[in-house]
Amino acid sequence: MPAAVVVFDAYGTLFDVTAAARVAAAEPAFPQLAAVWPRLAADWRRKQLDYSWLRTIMGLHADFAQVTAQALDWALAAQGLDDPALRARLIALYDRLETYPEVPGMLAALGRAGLPAAILSNGSPTMLAAAVGHAGLGGHLAAVLSVEEAGIFKPAPQVYALVGARFGVTPDRVLFVSSNGWDVAGAAAFGFRTVWVNRAAEPVDRLPHGPAHQLPDLTRIPEIALS
Ligand code: LAC
Repeated sequence: MPAAVVVFDAYGTLFDVTAAARVAAAEPAFPQLAAVWPRLAADWRRKQLDYSWLRTIMGLHADFAQVTAQALDWALAAQGLDDPALRARLIALYDRLETYPEVPGMLAALGRAGLPAAILSNGSPTMLAAAVGHAGLGGHLAAVLSVEEAGIFKPAPQVYALVGARFGVTPDRVLFVSSNGWDVAGAAAFGFRTVWVNRAAEPVDRLPHGPAHQLPDLTRIPEIALS
């Protein structure tokens, strides 16, 4: 049965989270990033996710903008980089991340098929609005849902429940797409149909509820959503 709505994770799935460090490294102002930007990007992402979960366990929620900035501070310190202009530039670039190349065409194909698409992300509403606006994706999206409506990060089930609350659909009619194995596990545990976008050909996470589908990129999402 076709999906009633296709829901995408944002960071790492539609938006390339390594783009901020890569773009800054190519700018004349930041030669100190040339050799270290891949490590900086990886540390930044790892700490961002760690802090989201640790704050959840600690009962000390802060929005993803704060978590992202604090993760960046750790990643910069790990490289011995203490440069307020660089920090400000990287934060600004996170609001204008590049999308993966197939994203606009794939979302347009969902639209032509009459399938609503949405984002469900850890991002704060302000961050998401900036990234979606910069990428020009707003016209393709029926909703941009932030975990801030639930006050807790993914993969808490309360977050996945935001989709049914918005679209009035049961979980089995939702196709959920994420590049994060832990996010796919949380969504599948909630009852969504899932696609894991595994660009780096990583092993499947050893968590309950593996992905129903695994793809190297987003190109085949409309085909899976309609099947
Ligand atoms: C998101 C992060 C977790 O967009 O990728 O929710």
